[in-house]
Amino acid sequence: MLDLLITRATLPDGRSNMSVAVQAGRITEVTQGLQAPAHEIVDAQGMLLSSHFVDPHFHMDATLSYGLPRVNQSGTLLEGIALWGELKPLLTQEALVERALAYCDGAVAKGLLAIRSHVDVCDPRLLAVDALLEVKKQVAPYIELQLVAFPQDGVLRGPRGPQQHLDTLKRALDKGVDVVGGIPHFERTMADGALSVKLLCELAAERGLPVDMHCDESDDPHSRHVETLAFETQRLGLQGRVTGSHLTSMHSMDNYYVSKLIPLMAEAQLHVVANPLINITLQGRHDSYPKRRGMTRVPELLAAGINVAFGHDCVMDPWYALGSGDMLEVAHMGLHVGQMTSQTAMRQCFDAVTVNAARVMGLQGYGLQAGCKADFVLLQARDPVEAIRLRATRLQVFKAGRLIAQTPAATSSLNLPGRPAQTSWMHGRPAGT
Ligand code: FE2
Repeated sequence: MLDLLITRATLPDGRSNMSVAVQAGRITEVTQGLQAPAHEIVDAQGMLLSSHFVDPHFHMDATLSYGLPRVNQSGTLLEGIALWGELKPLLTQEALVERALAYCDGAVAKGLLAIRSHVDVCDPRLLAVDALLEVKKQVAPYIELQLVAFPQDGVLRGPRGPQQHLDTLKRALDKGVDVVGGIPHFERTMADGALSVKLLCELAAERGLPVDMHCDESDDPHSRHVETLAFETQRLGLQGRVTGSHLTSMHSMDNYYVSKLIPLMAEAQLHVVANPLINITLQGRHDSYPKRRGMTRVPELLAAGINVAFGHDCVMDPWYALGSGDMLEVAHMGLHVGQMTSQTAMRQCFDAVTVNAARVMGLQGYGLQAGCKADFVLLQARDPVEAIRLRATRLQVFKAGRLIAQTPAATSSLNLPGRPAQTSWMHGRPAGT
């Protein structure tokens, strides 16, 4: 007997009336119309069953700290960085753990079961590192949490010299942080930025670790660190293991230069993470009008065969007062900012917070095929575009075939003469779609 059988589900690829059979935490069969005895049977009633959401870029050490020790009055990146500097000495491990766990509770409710979080490693106490390693252990039964050693203040900008932050970053890796991070555009000079990319990629190669750098997160059209990142990736044989996050300067770069850069990135098999909610709010702040959007060139990178995912980046922290762990909100913003309104592009936005993000994180057993982990979410929508449009309710969230969260369908009762008693905004679609 099966542990779980989902029937009458629609899958993101458009197949309908699909059954998904689960045994011992794994999907054993995905086929049309299967009926079989199971301990639990869920009738999806034509709703969309998707692999769980994946956030490939987040800052869990800062999340839910909004208002501590004060709010960011201007809402700018620079005031956010200053605020984080004020908050850091006041952090306690207990409070960090508590906030991160509360975030993870909300993430589960939103079907978000894998998160790559950067963690600041410039604090010699490594308080946030210890806290998030503890959180990683505690949430492991329901969330795959990957940590990136992120030198927020610049790896070569330690007050006691260039070795200081590099040493704490290495200590963080020794403790079990999974990925080497960086922030080359924040180093003192372009040359130091390039040197940081080289040193950090060499460190990753030595230790057999992936790399994920905040890279060129500015409006500077001359920022060139992603070029260096692609070069070092190839030089050190790190193809497929390196991610360039943000890459907002690509928005402002000269088109001719980008026509050379994108093929270099493809050759190095870089992954790219854009963070639409944060890029659109923090970039372009020195512009009057026209104001740049600041998001990297997502459609063009995808067209070159580069794996592009969307991250949430921030939720209620010194940089961003909003957010709710909803990767469909992230996809919704990415779609708008990137003008990704073609039928193909809208579906690519759904992929950017599911399958593409899973590739960034290198998740094993992710997907809706036999043999994959039974980690999925049933949405109150009939296809990926409707899911993005409605930021669809996560009706049921499953981990290893076990129901771990559920939310009632979003349906409003109406009291209008001559009109239906209920509405849920799930209107008809054009024939044949
Ligand atoms: Fe970030």
